[in-house]
Amino acid sequence: MLEESLPVESITGNLETRFIGQRVIYYPRVTSTNELAKQEAQRGAADGTVVIADEQTAGKGRLKRVWLSPKGSVALSIILYPSVVYLSSLIMVASLAVVHSIGAVTGLKPQLKWPNDVLVNGRKVCGILIENSVRGNIVNYAIIGIGVNVNLRLSDFPEILPTATSLSDELGRDVLRLELIRRLLVEIEKLYLALPTGGSIYQEWRDNLITLGKRVHIKSGKTDYEGIAESVAVDGSLLLRHPDGSLTKIVAGDVTLCD
Ligand code: BTN
Repeated sequence: MLEESLPVESITGNLETRFIGQRVIYYPRVTSTNELAKQEAQRGAADGTVVIADEQTAGKGRLKRVWLSPKGSVALSIILYPSVVYLSSLIMVASLAVVHSIGAVTGLKPQLKWPNDVLVNGRKVCGILIENSVRGNIVNYAIIGIGVNVNLRLSDFPEILPTATSLSDELGRDVLRLELIRRLLVEIEKLYLALPTGGSIYQEWRDNLITLGKRVHIKSGKTDYEGIAESVAVDGSLLLRHPDGSLTKIVAGDVTLCD
């Protein structure tokens, strides 16, 4: 493992962002950076504050799952106060920023699996959990939580081995977490600040989704669907074509590729 810890100054020093990551709260070990970030947001933390940890003891995944986050991972949460109109784009911002930064730092070519997974060679390398507090049209805060399997030997984690991978397993060498984190913060800010220009983030996100055009099984709440993942809407929902020709718009769910 290259770095044991992540001193704040090594993240913030000369970081080429206006606000994301200009304030960093670092813990060697926490329950969940998303939980800590929520507390900070409720206390009025500055826009773009990052909570980061070397290790999480109760990392949270989507759909109330546990997210394994041992030493060697990247676990960070970004506090934002966006306008309500941008909330549904945050997943596109975060996942594309992960794709760009993993690509830039490692040369690997990640792909996206709807809605929130980043894969390398078909296996999950990163999960994203976005949590919001919204009242009416007012966003109290949004938290973008990102977990990346960076320097992990997946054979040490048999529970996720069948579907997951890590950057170090893919490359056969360790990766500087610091470099990845700094690049990630820059990429997130770039994409986030471009949202009001109505740029091409939706198209780029859609083009990176390996899910589209595939036959899929989707578990959404208590309902199971099967069909062709035809497209995604600009709000990030998935359009599923059923064998009888009908179309369902799915806002959240768990996708398994059938072929
Ligand atoms: C998923 O794929 O289910 C989402 C996983 C999100 C994990 C990250 S790690 C940093 C942040 N803190 C958490 O407790 N969860 C997110």
